[in-house]
Amino acid sequence: MKNIVVTGGAGFIGSNFVHYIVNNYSEVYVIVLDKLTYAGNKANLSGLPKDRVELIVGDICDEELVSRVVKKADAVVHYAAETHNDNSLEDPFPFIQTNLLGTYTLLEACRKNDVRYHHISTDEVYGELPLKEDILNDDRKLAEKFTTHTPYNPSSPYSSTKAGSDLLVKAWVRSFGLRATISNCSNNYGPYQHIEKFIPRQITNILCGIRPKLYGEGMNVRDWIHTNDHSSAVWAILTRGKIGETYLIGADGEQNNKFVLESILELMGCPKKAYDQIQDRVGHDLRYAIDSTKLRQELGWEPKYTDFRAGLKHTIQWYIEHEGWWKNEKRVVEKRYKKQGQ
Ligand code: NAD
Ligand code: DAU
Repeated sequence: MKNIVVTGGAGFIGSNFVHYIVNNYSEVYVIVLDKLTYAGNKANLSGLPKDRVELIVGDICDEELVSRVVKKADAVVHYAAETHNDNSLEDPFPFIQTNLLGTYTLLEACRKNDVRYHHISTDEVYGELPLKEDILNDDRKLAEKFTTHTPYNPSSPYSSTKAGSDLLVKAWVRSFGLRATISNCSNNYGPYQHIEKFIPRQITNILCGIRPKLYGEGMNVRDWIHTNDHSSAVWAILTRGKIGETYLIGADGEQNNKFVLESILELMGCPKKAYDQIQDRVGHDLRYAIDSTKLRQELGWEPKYTDFRAGLKHTIQWYIEHEGWWKNEKRVVEKRYKKQGQ
């Protein structure tokens, strides 16, 4: 693994993965292929050595460009996607285009050039789980967490396109012998996350004197993982994972949104209840939870950033220290939310 193409490497999780490689694997050269949509930012890669990381600005749907870039690689790690559920409810088309057609374009280039491919996906492909308390009160023994055997049941245009892209990968493995793996990870947090997403939106709301916004009652549960732990898991799968396999990535970080928001307020020195409850997301999934036993047992992976409160504190500090990174976007993002009634 000397030359790696990282698609979406100027976005949140992709750029953290590039930093992780540069910091830990001195022999690896990274080519980032990124369209720099509203979610991509060159600044996420600033300070990285030019002899280790190259940014190619382009679209993963551009067959000629993708073929040229992929030819040079030992592996492709595919992060690029349209990723925000709320946006997919407003306009699904870019999700169809990038998440399905873009993945297809990459798969074809990898197949034709026999390049190892790793597909970054999400726990959302499995749909929602019932809350733990409802499982305890129900004798039908509902599934407690997602495993690789959980049937796909996506809810939103975003998650359905991610599910579709996973299925394309599985078909390319079986039909064409593509050397591919898939990982489905839970909700990430950490530096460089776009301020449309829950945690950074609330931190930057507080920093701007705007009241934080909680969808509905805030009982929805997400399984939070620090993005650095996601990176180490992807590296383990890329280098030691079994071809054709899917691995679920999670760090046992279940929390409901109300708890997360109140923790942010408390850590930022605000009254715990100083937020607005607003209109809920349409089709809002209730709970996600990952069983990552397979990844831990087969590849010996363990998360390191398991103290959620410490991780949150560190993330808040990052947004305080990087106001220049997000300030210009804030007005645009909040204007869009306002238009959506959120
Ligand atoms: P992000 O929205 O922060 O970044 C996406 C990146 O992809 C941006 O840099 C953008 O410019 C680029 N991109 C978008 N369309 C492109 C195109 N057509 N061609 C080239 N580049 C394009 O996303 P993220 O939150 O970092 O998520 C990255 C990946 O991880 C996605 O595949 C997502 O489904 C998956 N994932 C995210 C989470 C999470 O909590 N955010 C959890 C599990 C899985
Ligand atoms: O589970 C993995 C997924 O996590 C990824 O596949 C997605 O790309 C990523 O965006 C994320 O999806 P969510 O929809 O869970 O993340 P989001 O940050 O949008 O919202 C997290 C929770 O917070 C969700 O239950 C909705 C809620 N929320 C969100 C926003 C933006 C609020 O209560 N208020 C808000 O303002």
